Amino acid sequence: MEQSKKRVLSGIQPSGNLTIGNYLGALRQWVVEQDSYECYFCIVDMHAITVQQDPGSLRAKTREVAALYLASGLDPERVTIFVQSHVPAHAELGWILICQSPLGWLYRMTQFKDKAAKQQQDSVGAGLLNYPALMAADILLYQAHAVPVGDDQRQHLEFTRDLAQRFNALYGDTFIIPEAMIPKAGARIMGLDNPTAKMSKSEASEYHAVYMLDAPNMVKKKVMRAVTDSFGEIRFSSEPERAGVNNLLTIYQALTNQSNADIEEHFAGKGYGDLKKAVVEQINNRLQPLQEKYNRYINEPGYLDQILANGAERASVVAEKTLRLAKERMGFVLPNGK
Ligand code: TYM
Repeated sequence: MEQSKKRVLSGIQPSGNLTIGNYLGALRQWVVEQDSYECYFCIVDMHAITVQQDPGSLRAKTREVAALYLASGLDPERVTIFVQSHVPAHAELGWILICQSPLGWLYRMTQFKDKAAKQQQDSVGAGLLNYPALMAADILLYQAHAVPVGDDQRQHLEFTRDLAQRFNALYGDTFIIPEAMIPKAGARIMGLDNPTAKMSKSEASEYHAVYMLDAPNMVKKKVMRAVTDSFGEIRFSSEPERAGVNNLLTIYQALTNQSNADIEEHFAGKGYGDLKKAVVEQINNRLQPLQEKYNRYINEPGYLDQILANGAERASVVAEKTLRLAKERMGFVLPNGK
């Protein structure tokens, strides 16, 4: 089949409250790319269950993420939005790719090491280790050229590329080798309470993350408490002692698209309190209209379900085609001839 536009695929786990890290590192980019690429955006519920999830929460968060995709500006007429578990080809190619994944590659993944370290060793699920193979399946099923993600997914993308190359070498050209698409500003938003750790939706502490659905006064409370330093100097920096201020500047930059020099000039002679107030204002200006749209979508479950059903149908056509090809290449006997 002749593809007119290159393809993009990305996804977010419905494993907690989406943060401004998810928005600035991923979602915001997706909205920009939706005209230039043929886009597939999934809600990766099967990845979420690699750590224990409460069923009620998983159900609610899956819809919540879908509504946030729409509220952020993804247009279901132009892009395909779907739930990963609605397209069984993901699980099927996931298994095939698990069988192709050297254990050494999987054990090397820093996200596996970090997440496994947070659990008792004998209760770490096998799914957590195999997580990158399922992510590779998500991407390769759509023959995606580009994968817009935050910086923390770089290693998983490398894994996907290596695995695809290995498969192609063993069985003949089957998969497009995808590229990571990582934004210049906002690819790694850090925790407000601990600017040396990535802002994460699964971190429990109250002042760690700004959530996309936080009310304006909550955003203010969190940002005003953000950890800074005692240098009293507002400039971009990679020094760990200045990570808090650098993080606030990064958030400001990701929301305003201004250059480092312009931002530093803007804050020249001002204090950290002014910087924080400006960050609060930018975040709330962005989140307020988004939250209004979110409230409309989340209160229309029928509409949301219809979008997800249409999305799964469209995604299945593409995914099934690649799955068949991969199975055929490997020597599976396909049902009904071909
Ligand atoms: P997840 O759900 O952890 O995060 C979703 C997206 O948000 C980005 N992100 C961040 N960006 C900047 N700063 C942060 N603090 C921050 N935290 C998260 C992530 O990089 C990601 O782009 N493994 C993926 C989900 C996944 C996927 C895929 C992604 C499954 N299959 C296929 C792309 C393609 C994950 O855990 O994302």
